Amino acid sequence: MTSTATAHPNIALAKYWGKRNDALIIPATGSLSLTLDVFPTTTSVTLSDEGADAVRLDGVLLTGDESNRVRTVLDRIRELSGRTGHARVESANTVPTAAGLASSAAAFAALATAAADAFGLDADDRMLSRIARRGSGSACRSVFPGVARWNAGIDDESSYAEPLSWNGPPLAMVVGIVSSQRKAVSSRTAMRRTVETSPYFPAWVTSSAALLDQMSDAVAAGDFATVGELTEQSALRMHASMFGAVPPVRYLSAASLALFDAVVTLRSAGIDAYATADAGPNVKVLCRSDQASHVVDALTATIPDAEYVVAHAGPGSHIVTGKGA
Ligand code: DP6
Repeated sequence: MTSTATAHPNIALAKYWGKRNDALIIPATGSLSLTLDVFPTTTSVTLSDEGADAVRLDGVLLTGDESNRVRTVLDRIRELSGRTGHARVESANTVPTAAGLASSAAAFAALATAAADAFGLDADDRMLSRIARRGSGSACRSVFPGVARWNAGIDDESSYAEPLSWNGPPLAMVVGIVSSQRKAVSSRTAMRRTVETSPYFPAWVTSSAALLDQMSDAVAAGDFATVGELTEQSALRMHASMFGAVPPVRYLSAASLALFDAVVTLRSAGIDAYATADAGPNVKVLCRSDQASHVVDALTATIPDAEYVVAHAGPGSHIVTGKGA
C-alpha cells in the first residue's frame, strides 16, 4: 500500500533564522508564514521489505545529508507508531530545488503526511507539524493552509505551527525569480554561522519576538498594511544578521535589491506591496490579490529579466491517495 501526500511551500512573513537546538530543530524565534498555492511537492511512501530506507527525488536516489534528513523523519514516525519496517520514498518537486523558494518546506510537510499515513500513525495536524519540523524547520508551517504561526517553544512538544485566521483582503505573493541556481551556502549552514559568529544575532532574536507579537495582532485585525510593513522589516533584519556573520552570508544579489527598490516605488505610487526574500536571491512581493497583476506589470516594466509567478493562499499538506484519503 502506498500513501501519497501533497504539500505547498510557505513563505515566512516573520522569519525563522537560527536554532536553539540543532538536533530537534527548535528555533531561536517564532515565525509566521503564508502557504502558497504554487510549486507543490508530491511524495509517496511505500513500506518495503528491504534492509534500508530508499529515497528518490525526481527519480534520483538521494544520499548523504539529504537522505539523512528524510531518515530522521521516518525514524521519528517509526518511534511514534511502534512499527519497525523500512520505506521507499519517491518525491517530485515542481519548484527549483534549493533556490530559496522553500522547496524543503513543501518536501518535509508532504513526507511527514505521507509517511504517517503509510506507517498507520494516527497523527493530528499538530503532531504532523512537529514531525515535519524534524526534517526542516519551516516545513512545520506547510502542514497548514494560508497564514500559520510557528510557536518557537522550548522542546519537541511545544515547538509546532498552528493556523491563524486572516480576515483582511485576499493575499497574493508575486514571486520574482531572478535565479534558479542552487545556492552556494545551504540555509542550515548559513543559519548556524549566523548564530555562532554574528554580533547582530542577539538583536535579531530580541527584535523578532516583538515583531512576531505585532504581526500576530495585525493578522487578527486583518490589517494588511501593518502585516506588509513588518514583513519587509523582518526580511531585512534577517539578512542584516547574516551580513554580520564571519565569513558574511549574502544571498541578496543586485537583482534582488533592484526588486526591493521597485517595490518601494510601487508603494509611493499608492500600491500596497512589500518585499521579502529568503536564503536565495529571489524576491517575493506580498500584495492584495486584486492588485497582483498590476504588481507583475509594474515589476516587469522595471526589471524585465526576472520571471514572475503569482501565488495566492494555498492548502495545507494532505493525503491524495492512501488510508487517510
Ligand atoms: C530563510 O527551514 O530551510 O526560509 O530548519 O535548517 O531546514 P532548516 O532551515 P529552513 O530555513 C528557512 C529559513 C528561511 C526563513 C523562513 O522560512 O522562516
